[in-house]
Amino acid sequence: MKEKVYIFDTTLRDGEQSPGASMNKAEKVRIATQLEKLGVDALEAGFPAASEGDFEAVAEVAQKVVNAEVVALARASVHDIDRAWKAISHAAHPRIHIFLATSDIHMQYKLNMSREEVVKSAVDAIKYAHSLTGNIEFSAEDGSRTDPDFLCRVFEAVIDAGAKTVNLPDTVGYAIPHEFGELVAYVRKNTPNMDKGILSVHCHNDLGLATANTLAAIENGARQAEVTINGIGERAGNTSLEELVMTLNTRPTYLPVTTGIETTRIYRVSRLVSMITGLMVQPNKAVVGANAFAHEAGIHQHGVLQNPMTYEIMKPETIGLTTSRMVMGKHSGKHALHKHLQNIGYDLSEEELKLVFKKFKELADKKKVVLDEDLEALVNEGVLRTADIYSLTYLHVTAGTTVMPTATVKMVINGNETFCTGSGNGPIDAVFNAISDLTGTESQLMRFSVNALTGGTDAQGEVSVRLKESDVIALGRGADPDIITASAYAYINGLNRLEYLKSHPPRKAESV
Ligand code: KIV
Ligand code: ZN
Repeated sequence: MKEKVYIFDTTLRDGEQSPGASMNKAEKVRIATQLEKLGVDALEAGFPAASEGDFEAVAEVAQKVVNAEVVALARASVHDIDRAWKAISHAAHPRIHIFLATSDIHMQYKLNMSREEVVKSAVDAIKYAHSLTGNIEFSAEDGSRTDPDFLCRVFEAVIDAGAKTVNLPDTVGYAIPHEFGELVAYVRKNTPNMDKGILSVHCHNDLGLATANTLAAIENGARQAEVTINGIGERAGNTSLEELVMTLNTRPTYLPVTTGIETTRIYRVSRLVSMITGLMVQPNKAVVGANAFAHEAGIHQHGVLQNPMTYEIMKPETIGLTTSRMVMGKHSGKHALHKHLQNIGYDLSEEELKLVFKKFKELADKKKVVLDEDLEALVNEGVLRTADIYSLTYLHVTAGTTVMPTATVKMVINGNETFCTGSGNGPIDAVFNAISDLTGTESQLMRFSVNALTGGTDAQGEVSVRLKESDVIALGRGADPDIITASAYAYINGLNRLEYLKSHPPRKAESV
C-alpha cells in the first residue's frame, strides 16, 4: 500500500503574490471550486490579516469549499490568528497556518529577535491557535537556511504545543535537491516527536529547482507538498502542482507514494488560473505548456505515429487534454453548449449560460470550428468579468499603408455609454489612446504580447498586457478572432483589474 502525500495548494495565497496576479472574491471562489474538484487535500485561500479584501475572499472560499481543508495564513500574533480564525471558522475543515522566520539572518535583520524569543513566540502562537482549533500548521520561514538543530528544536516545541503539520520552506529558492533531501531526513531523525506531526515542504523556484527539491523531500519522508497551479507565486514562483503530481504519476515505482489528485482535471484548472490571473503559461512549460505534447521533429512524429510511447512519457488525456472538437455552427443549440461546457468543467447558471451562448453565437459566425480553448475564453469574458466597471460595446478601426491609424471606441463606464475617437502610430496604439481618453486613466503599458489561442488562420488571438499605475501593477487578457479587438479587451480587462486593486490594495510583500 502506497503512502499518501498530501497536496496543499497555495495558488490563492502564495500564487496570488505573483506581481499583478491579485484575484477578486468571485475569481478566488471559482478557482477554489475547481481545486476542490481536482482533489487537493488543503487549499490556502489567503492571508486574512493582510487586507480586508483577503479576509472577505477567504471567508467566502471557506463557505463554499466542503471537501478540502481551507487554510488561512497568519503571523505569530494574536491579532493575525484571530483574523484567520474569523475568516475560516465556518469552514467544513478549517486550518490555521502560522509562520515565523527561524534563520539567523531573518531573526537578526527582520525580526530583531533572539532564538529564545522566536521559540517562545512560536509556542505561544500555537497554544493560542490551539484554543480555537486542533488543525494547525507551523512554517519555519527560511527553513532551508536555518541551523538544522535549531529547526528541530522549533519543530519539537511547536508539535508539543499542538501543531499538527510542520512545514520546512525553502523560502528564497536556495536549496539544492540532494542537500534539501538530507535536511528533511535530518529533521525527521532529530525531532523527537516528529511521529506526532506531518512534515511538509514549501519550495520556491528561484533556481528552477522547486519541483526537484520537493521530490527530494518526499523521497526523504516529507508527506505534505505545498504547490501552486502553473507554479505561480512570489518571484520565480513555487513548486508546480502539475509537475509534482505528474512526476509521481508517471514514475509510480520510483517513489512509493500517491496523491488524491484527479489528473484529468489538471489542464482545465491550469487554463482557468492562467485566464483569471492573466499569467500566461510559457509554451515550453512542463506538463501544461502548449508545446508539452507537440512533436516537431519528423523522426519523433514518425515514432509517435507507430507507438505514442516512443516519445510520449505521458498521455495528453491523463491531464485532460483532449482533441475533442466541438463542431458547432450558428444553428447549434444552448442545450448542446451547456452539456459540452459541463464536460470541460464549467457548471454555469442559467443566467451565465445565456451570456456565454450569445458570445458563442457571435464567435460561431466568424469561426468554423469552436474549440475548447475558445469556449474557455468565452466563459472568461462572458461570466468572470460581469462586475467590471469598464466594458467595450463598439470598436471601429481604420489603418493601412496610406492612412493615419484611427479608432472609434464606444464603452460602458459605470453603466453609462460613451464614445470617442483616437489616433496613434498604429491601430492598437490608436485603440489604446481612445480607451485611455474615455476612461481618464493614465496607466503605463509595461508589456504586450499576442498568441494564437488554437491552430488555424481563423484562430482567436489571445492578447495579454501588463499595466502599471503608480506602484500598482495589473495584468489584462483578451481573446477575439480579430487581434485588435482582442487587444482592446485585454487593455480594458487590465484597467478593470487596476481599479479593483486600487480599491482592494494587495497584501504588502513585506507582510509575508
Ligand atoms: O515561502 C515561504 O516561506 C512562505 C511561508 C509563509 C510558508 O510562503
Ligand atoms: Zn512561499
